[in-house]
Amino acid sequence: MSEEAPSQPPLRVRSLTRAFGGVRALDGVSFSVEQGRVLAVIGPNGSGKTTLFNLVSGVLGPSDGSVYLWATEVGGWSVDRVARLGMSRTFQEVRLFRGFTVAENVIYALGKGRREGIGDILRLRSLKGLRGELYDEARSLLGKVGLQDKLDAPATALSYGQSKLVELVRALATSPRLLLLDEPTAGLSPAAIDAVLGLLQPLPGSGMTIVFIEHNLSVVQRLATAVVVLDAGKVISQGSPEEVRSDPRVEEAYFGRRSE
Ligand SMILES: Nc1ncnc2c1ncn2[C@@H]1O[C@H](COP(=O)(O)OP(=O)(O)OP(=O)(O)O)[C@@H](O)[C@H]1O
Ligand SMILES: [Mg+2]
Repeated sequence: MSEEAPSQPPLRVRSLTRAFGGVRALDGVSFSVEQGRVLAVIGPNGSGKTTLFNLVSGVLGPSDGSVYLWATEVGGWSVDRVARLGMSRTFQEVRLFRGFTVAENVIYALGKGRREGIGDILRLRSLKGLRGELYDEARSLLGKVGLQDKLDAPATALSYGQSKLVELVRALATSPRLLLLDEPTAGLSPAAIDAVLGLLQPLPGSGMTIVFIEHNLSVVQRLATAVVVLDAGKVISQGSPEEVRSDPRVEEAYFGRRSE
């Protein structure tokens, strides 16, 4: 793949719209994210945040408007085709392979980054060859979130919080250039939130671009360089975390109009 000019934003959406029946879950949304930046997408429940991620990652096609990844329009592309551009995402509900161990879940993602597949894991397993380079890499990645002792545990043995961490490690294992995280800290303990932030904070320094959906505003303050606020499918505010925090439209969207 040829290198894009550095001026191409990893993600740009223009007038992006998605209707479900008569409901516009996303309604004319436009913004862009420059390389190495960390954008938080916030907004009340049902405001269209996950729908936005589904449109960017190929889970859904747009009803109208455009999604550009590094200036390539990807609206309507398949999930696999979008991922091959260097985009990786996590889901609001954890999606691990339940029949596999924790290490195998991570190794599958490492393999995907190398354009291999699930057959390789099954082959490694049958050859009892799972102690190789990929296993060591999985151990190192899981160690960053304190889960090295869960390597050989079945995925079903993990707590909810541990599953969220493994899901994040899996997304990172594909070495994405653009990482989309849907509520990465939801349901995590303060210590696990610190582990997530410790893992994510250095990544933009090496050029990775992160877009994350978050309800925890202290996590937004600690991680985001910019914020987009959605309400009823529209962008009602955007700017730095400080600008958005002091925008009365944001408070109104979350808490209703104040009678002052
Ligand atoms: N596949 C679908 N079919 C029908 N309606 C949908 C579908 N996906 C989302 N919606 C609707 O679109 C709207 C936005 O949903 P979405 O999941 O994007 O919100 P969200 O901002 O991620 O909310 P939350 O913070 O609760 O995760 C909601 O009204 C939801 O019911
Ligand atoms: Mg959601």
